[in-house]
Amino acid sequence: MERIDRLLKPDGKNLSAVVFGKAGSGKSTAIEEWAKSAIKSRSYGKDWRLIYVSPKHEGFEGMKIGKKKITPQFDIEEVVGSLQKNRMAIWFPENMNSIDLEFDFLVSSLYDYKEANPNFSATIILDDAQVWVEARKTNSNEMKRLILTGRSKQIKTVLVSHGLVINKMLEGQVDLIVAFDSGNPIWWKSAQDRFNLDLETHSEALKSKPYSFLWYDMKDENPILFDPIQYN
Ligand SMILES: Nc1ncnc2c1ncn2[C@@H]1O[C@H](COP(=O)(O)OP(=O)(O)OP(=O)(O)O)[C@@H](O)[C@H]1O
Ligand SMILES: [Mg+2]
Repeated sequence: MERIDRLLKPDGKNLSAVVFGKAGSGKSTAIEEWAKSAIKSRSYGKDWRLIYVSPKHEGFEGMKIGKKKITPQFDIEEVVGSLQKNRMAIWFPENMNSIDLEFDFLVSSLYDYKEANPNFSATIILDDAQVWVEARKTNSNEMKRLILTGRSKQIKTVLVSHGLVINKMLEGQVDLIVAFDSGNPIWWKSAQDRFNLDLETHSEALKSKPYSFLWYDMKDENPILFDPIQYN
């Protein structure tokens, strides 16, 4: 649980996190299991919310909190509205042309919730972040606000991506990388140069044991290999 908290809990201290690995390496499966533990944990407080964003429209199938089903929503206003009652919302963005505007609306709404309730906190998991963040040269103002000031507002961002270099602005704003098998040596150099992470040394181990992952907390700079998570 300590590790899950380190990844997901908006504790006001930790920066954004990146979960990284090639297609099928186990990222979504792991983050879903970890998120489910967070949802069950009382330590996140009753005013904490989890928002799972999935452009691929998969993840958290059949999700329930208590007896309540959490179904994916396509309309961002419904996502935001449902957060008033539910501990979690699943957003499946539909229109890639308006995804920026919708994301901005989500972020500004979370800041509004925070403004209205100082105990409010939230975690946004952006799955397949490469689909839309990577393609953009500039970040929207709300994305900037989220990445640069989310920590102090206890609104935490976790990016899940095929690539390690998601976004220039993020570089100084990430302090945890969870690396699954990245498949491709092209990431070794950026991992080293940008994050001081030696992926090369661990790449064979990650490759030879499918779904295993490397936990790299930049605060202690000591990457640790973990066996695949068990899930059902
Ligand atoms: N820990 C695990 N143990 C056993 N099987 C796993 C594990 N993690 C993932 N898998 C299997 O691998 C498949 C792909 O995993 P997952 O969808 O989590 O990959 P991903 O990294 O999110 O891929 P993508 O980038 O394409 O979204 C899963 O459907 C599951 O069958
Ligand atoms: Mg996935």
